[in-house]
Amino acid sequence: MRTRTTTSTRASAWWRDAAVYQVYPRSFRDADGDGVGDIAGLLSGLRHIADLGVDAIWISPWYSSPMVDHGYDVAGHREVDPLFGTLGEAEALIDKAHELGLRVLLDIVPNHTSDQHPWFKAALTAPPGSPARQRYHFCRGRGADGESPPNNWRSKFGHSHWTRVIEPDGTPGEWYLHLFAPSQPDLNWDNADVREDFDSILRFWFDRGVDGFRIDSAHGLVKQSGLPDLSLPDQGVRNHPYWHQEKVHDVYRSWRQIADSYSQPRALVAEVWADEPSLLTDYVRPGELHTVFSFDFLSAPWRADVLRRVIDDSIAELASVDASPAWTLSNHDVVRHVSRYGRLQLDRPVAFSTDLPDGPLDLELGERRARAAILLMLALPGSAFLYQGEELGLWEVEDIPEHLLQDPSRQQSGDSVRGRDGCRVPLPWFGERPSFGFSPDGSVPSWLPQPEMWREHTVEAQNRDPDSMLHLYRSALRLRRSDAALGEGAFTWDVTPPQILSFRREPGFRCVVNLSVESVPLRPDDEVLLSSCPLIDGQLRPDTSVWLHRSR
Ligand code: BGC
Repeated sequence: MRTRTTTSTRASAWWRDAAVYQVYPRSFRDADGDGVGDIAGLLSGLRHIADLGVDAIWISPWYSSPMVDHGYDVAGHREVDPLFGTLGEAEALIDKAHELGLRVLLDIVPNHTSDQHPWFKAALTAPPGSPARQRYHFCRGRGADGESPPNNWRSKFGHSHWTRVIEPDGTPGEWYLHLFAPSQPDLNWDNADVREDFDSILRFWFDRGVDGFRIDSAHGLVKQSGLPDLSLPDQGVRNHPYWHQEKVHDVYRSWRQIADSYSQPRALVAEVWADEPSLLTDYVRPGELHTVFSFDFLSAPWRADVLRRVIDDSIAELASVDASPAWTLSNHDVVRHVSRYGRLQLDRPVAFSTDLPDGPLDLELGERRARAAILLMLALPGSAFLYQGEELGLWEVEDIPEHLLQDPSRQQSGDSVRGRDGCRVPLPWFGERPSFGFSPDGSVPSWLPQPEMWREHTVEAQNRDPDSMLHLYRSALRLRRSDAALGEGAFTWDVTPPQILSFRREPGFRCVVNLSVESVPLRPDDEVLLSSCPLIDGQLRPDTSVWLHRSR
């Protein structure tokens, strides 16, 4: 086995090619039997993550929260919610992860707080114009009595981004801004208290050994001064009054200085949605954040032409500022990729449940393509973010009974969309019946019900099956770690027919992905390292990828 030579990257700029596993704590593992995952459950499943062969975990919010958006509505940034455990347990978890060789990223949610945050509660009882209100965006409404929202900002579901408050004297008063649910008021990043508090939150967790943060909605924090109307309801992201404002970059330059003030390197990963890849690069210019997700790759249909284009664009755009891409196929907001790939592949991006085309789902096809996709992704230069459960081949659960759906984005849509619950169903660990070891025996049912068919997808069942998705992930991650060609470094396409993706990594590595409907022959001299499905007579079947050691 060739040995990876990029040890200096691993140590000092580890984020450039790390494999990171996202934990959605609510759905990872439940130790106390209340049907909701917790830190003790995560601790008990940490070995599963370490054994996969990843370098780090990213933990979705565990802070104190009324859980309207399952933790993305933070009421106390320096506290752990009792639903998940205690600060002491969080500290022990960080230490244990480090012992197992896993770095730890937390989620930070700077665009908004919960309406139960002490600052917002104080703002509601304070008068208009007071310092307490200036930490958020409180404004007088339009109209003679201020009865209309201050501007025309609306969500894609049509509801206003403003909610009117009742003043302490009982009369209808100012309005406050919320780009997400009304229970998630937006912070005012022109306010010094806000900036100082987040600096201190970063330090609070860095001081506890956290290795970095995933920054939630990183493109939204700063609003254009004067909060002007949108000129068009679907105005593009360039010159938008609340996305990608130039001043947001001042925030990240200062956060970078904080990260760099630690002797062990800390990393900042941005969640940025942009319909122009060039906008992403602004976030990872020298002196700003370390890396940013390439969501165009996640949303791309399973089509060679589109995948080739988004891979090329992401690599080129990020290379222009000396950053490396962060690839991902799934997360807690999007439809699981088995279910995206198991449908008709359209000529447009598909990420959210609202994007899914009508028509039947072929789970077997989705799983085959998901196996091929992970080998494609893990062979690309850059870091790779995996979402809990994809290593088990889990799919989107699309038949959760309506009365059990919980995602606030569904409520905001007036129940017109299913929302994101389907990718958040608790993991199956072992056994024949729900909760499949997610909760201890005798517990209340898990917070979302698991499909009976997941009995074949438990960690235990997949451990027994050498051809399982779990074994594929382990083998691929092990090779990625040991092969000097993978991770950062040169990337060159081979010349191939249009439906085949084939590229070289140096030294001596080739990845071939067959997106055509025919089997294709491989070069006879290349040695097979790993394939997503068995080869037949040396041929790569449709929707299959292979990793090869190149003969030349
Ligand atoms: C997170 C979502 C969350 C939203 C508001 C997103 O980008 O990933 O889960 O609902 O931010 O915080």
